[in-house]
Amino acid sequence: MKLGQELISADAIQRRVREIAQEISRDYQGIERALILLSVLKGSVSSYGAGTQSSGHVQLLKDLTMDVAGRDVLMVEDIIDTGLTTSFLFDHVQRHGPKSLKLCVLLNKEERRITPVPITYKGFDIPNHFVVGYGLDYDELYRNLTAVHILEP
Ligand code: IMP
Ligand code: MG
Repeated sequence: MKLGQELISADAIQRRVREIAQEISRDYQGIERALILLSVLKGSVSSYGAGTQSSGHVQLLKDLTMDVAGRDVLMVEDIIDTGLTTSFLFDHVQRHGPKSLKLCVLLNKEERRITPVPITYKGFDIPNHFVVGYGLDYDELYRNLTAVHILEP
């Protein structure tokens, strides 16, 4: 596998992230207790291993460290592909009884969806390619790139 063409520039990412941040601030202004941003840490969920295909079996390796009952929670995801990971986590968090639960995602591969997920804030729709950069890795490589690139076989 090798690094392919740039799909989303660093500038475009920064602009979109700023827009979404403003939207989120607007939507949640005036809530009683601070919004909980829930991010999925690398390593807290496994379904990929060292490959570009999800195994389809999601395993929770580390649970929530905070009580979200009665709180406004926003799950923040890097990318939604099949939707298996996110729908599993969404349902899991929902069972902890948050006051509200919404989903924010930077990249969406709609074409690949197996399980539907309710996205409230979305950065970009992207075609069906494996992508890296801006935190996304391929076997721990390319996370550090400031733009999103396609990975080529
Ligand atoms: P899903 O369960 O198939 O939706 O995949 C969710 C997880 O797989 C994401 O949170 C990523 O960690 C990883 N993933 C899916 N597609 C890509 C990609 O194109 N590049 C890097 N990681 C990906
Ligand atoms: Mg990941």
